[in-house]
Amino acid sequence: MLRTQVGSVSLQTPLLLASGYITETPEFFMRAQPYGCSGIVTRSLKQRVPPERSRITVPRYAVFGQDNMLNCEWGNEKPWTEWRDSGVRHVQDAGCPIIVSLSGRDLESCCYLIQTFDELDVDAYEINISCSHSGALHGNLNVDELHLEQLMKKVRGVTKTPIWIKLSYSNLLLSMAQRAQELGADAIVCTNSIGPGMLIDTKTAKPKLGIKGGGGGVSGKAIFPIALWCVHQLSQNLTIPIVGCGGIFTADDVVQMLMAGARAVQLYTAPALKGPVVFKRITAGLGRFLAENPQYDSIEDLIGLTLEKTREHRFSSPCPVVIEEKCTGCGICVQSCAFDALTMLRRANRKPLAVIADNCISCNACVGVCPPKFDAIKASF
Ligand SMILES: Cc1cc2nc3c(=O)[nH]c(=O)nc-3n(C[C@H](O)[C@H](O)[C@H](O)COP(=O)(O)O)c2cc1C
Repeated sequence: MLRTQVGSVSLQTPLLLASGYITETPEFFMRAQPYGCSGIVTRSLKQRVPPERSRITVPRYAVFGQDNMLNCEWGNEKPWTEWRDSGVRHVQDAGCPIIVSLSGRDLESCCYLIQTFDELDVDAYEINISCSHSGALHGNLNVDELHLEQLMKKVRGVTKTPIWIKLSYSNLLLSMAQRAQELGADAIVCTNSIGPGMLIDTKTAKPKLGIKGGGGGVSGKAIFPIALWCVHQLSQNLTIPIVGCGGIFTADDVVQMLMAGARAVQLYTAPALKGPVVFKRITAGLGRFLAENPQYDSIEDLIGLTLEKTREHRFSSPCPVVIEEKCTGCGICVQSCAFDALTMLRRANRKPLAVIADNCISCNACVGVCPPKFDAIKASF
């Protein structure tokens, strides 16, 4: 029911552990795998770590708004040879797919690592050309079509193993992805952390990240809508599979990604902040979703369902509806309505009730502000 396929890579569930410091070694994945995480993407490996990157900047990440991170990870904490000597075998012995992530900046190193890992029969390579903070310091590969062409020609020449290209949001996303497809990429992974962004500690006036320039990549819930849009855009225009990534925390997020056209998804910030158990909740949630929606036999039936539904504007806009028995009269919707279209009905001996008036323009802001625990205003489109 939860099985999917990204080209030749078969997955027991659509959930993969995305590249980052929690995939420096296989350990975190080994704890996530029994909960339904079906494969791992290693940390982006470099054959040679430039001397300035052999030391890790401090702080290297900052958590904000609970479910988001800003990070300036770079370099590798462990040498890439650990994956060659034991890490890959460890994952394969557990019967799971392993996707080796490679930094796509140094083309010679990238080819050398591919030739080395090909001997170990890894399932795919994910080439990272979308790191926002290294882009800010050393040139933004995420929008560099010439670099992409050189990269694809080189790596396609040395391996038949699937090549996934990891891109981030940019206004060149579609043309970069199309070029990668033309040059033989087998899948696009989107998105990396988005940025650079910045946070400042107002007690010290210092940036919250230790990297020169202060910029880092934003990940977590805040980027989910952007990531979803990227996946939808790519799915609509490409024939190779898309792997969605960015801000996924719940089964509903995964279903949205699949409906937007992703064949599988990757998670980083959610497991990094909540632990491997997040995969258990999501796997259970996906099972529940299929049980409650028997028109779908498996998650494969969800893939791309939304693509047809976004081709035209929607003009019909009935006003939302207040569900009387659920409304607690808290009044948040009344305060937030910019059009004076909600009033509070005072009822004798009963709690007040929000009422939608004639001047409602159906913007549906009230649906969004009604606290989820009450869920008392429903959109009616
Ligand atoms: C601390 C940290 C380190 C990361 N390191 C890498 C990396 O080495 N290679 C890579 O391709 N992406 C890296 N990423 C990006 C994630 O793999 C992922 O694409 C991004 O965080 C968006 O997904 P999320 O919102 O689920 O975290 C890193 C992200 C974070 C937060």
